[in-house]
Amino acid sequence: MTSRRPTTTPAIQRVQAQLKQRQQLERQRNARRLFQEANRLKRLPLYLFAILDDLKAQARARGIDVIDLGMGNPDLPPPRHVIEELHRRADEPTNHSYSRPDGVVERTLRDAIAEWYRRKFRVTLDPRTETLPLLGSKEGISHLTLAFLNPDDIALVPNPTYPVHFNGVVMAGGILHNVPIDAGHGYLPNLKAIPPKIVRRAKMLFLSYPHNPTAATANLKFFQDVIRWAKAHRIMVIHDFAYSDFIYDGAKAPSILQVPGAKEIAVEFHTLSKSYCMPGWRFGFAVGNPDVLASLAKTKSYIDFGIFRLVQWGAIQALLGPQDHVREIVDEYGRRRKLFVEGLRRIGWDMPMPKGTFYVWAKIPMKFSALTSLEFATLLMQEAGVVAAPGTGFGEYGEGFVRFALVEPEARLKEAVTRIERVLRMES
Ligand SMILES: Cc1ncc(COP(=O)(O)O)c(C=O)c1O
Repeated sequence: MTSRRPTTTPAIQRVQAQLKQRQQLERQRNARRLFQEANRLKRLPLYLFAILDDLKAQARARGIDVIDLGMGNPDLPPPRHVIEELHRRADEPTNHSYSRPDGVVERTLRDAIAEWYRRKFRVTLDPRTETLPLLGSKEGISHLTLAFLNPDDIALVPNPTYPVHFNGVVMAGGILHNVPIDAGHGYLPNLKAIPPKIVRRAKMLFLSYPHNPTAATANLKFFQDVIRWAKAHRIMVIHDFAYSDFIYDGAKAPSILQVPGAKEIAVEFHTLSKSYCMPGWRFGFAVGNPDVLASLAKTKSYIDFGIFRLVQWGAIQALLGPQDHVREIVDEYGRRRKLFVEGLRRIGWDMPMPKGTFYVWAKIPMKFSALTSLEFATLLMQEAGVVAAPGTGFGEYGEGFVRFALVEPEARLKEAVTRIERVLRMES
């Protein structure tokens, strides 16, 4: 954790006062509520992105041209052939009914997922039992915890990480055990360091490489070790593979299911939100262990009614149609990553070049190390009009960092660097 010392500049003091006032207002508003939220909601950590959204709205109202690198919301369009399929299918009346598991599109979609997997990773899946379409991978991941966690079950969650991995556990009422990850170990969890009494009660382990927010990657050897360890301790492995295509410099991100026997204990989650720039479509899928997927499907059958059939037709096109669009997208993010990181290094903010994802994970410069990541992100927004996500939005071990999502074009990223330079040169 960053040690706190009094800071001096008026801009920083303004930011700290504003955040304090906001938290007080929030507490007062909650105390006045007629209907108190359930404890499972109260247990959730503060949703920092909501604070940033408010501050962003205030900045825009003051006429500031905000460069938003906060959320990982891709700015590029989906493939043309996917959109055309959506138009073509819209006139068919059956595409507007409830989705049923035995429908034509539903069966074609599961076949498409298995085929995509075979082409991409050389992994064979039974489309009926080893694939499961979802309303986005976030939905599937959070419902998986609901399907499996009892109040005394432990979930092992690397920290920092994508917030759904820990928030899902808290909402489901399980016990969250944070496994700190750091740059020194390539942001990979050291499973051997987890106390045996925790391991004995652990039911699931979360992983996600290429990793949001740290941009770290993992190789097949790491996954082999994890599967061996998890089998020995009878722990389910959940691999969130949202950034499967976002890896640079000629590397290829392995699927955990490439480890022989992984299907006995592992499931992997995918999304069309990132590789195919379709975040608003809400489409993802899980593959792997059939028993785990059956329980997830059962949980979902009490909650949702499946995926809009037009979205399913579009997803089939994305998975089986030409893939050059994915390559172009990844190349574009690769260029942005170089431009942005090299730009920040030039103005004196050093950080590693990300190996994967479309994020930049940056340690807060020494000069500002007395600030929390939320305070520093607020300062960047107010003084530079640049939105970054505070590291603690990804868990307590994200303190001391901010994450930039490269979801604006190159010219805007250059402009962001120029504006950030002004903040770094601020008098202290
Ligand atoms: C690691 C990770 N998993 C899952 C998701 C959510 O994906 P979806 O849009 O499929 O819910 C995100 C989104 O940022 C992510 O970063």
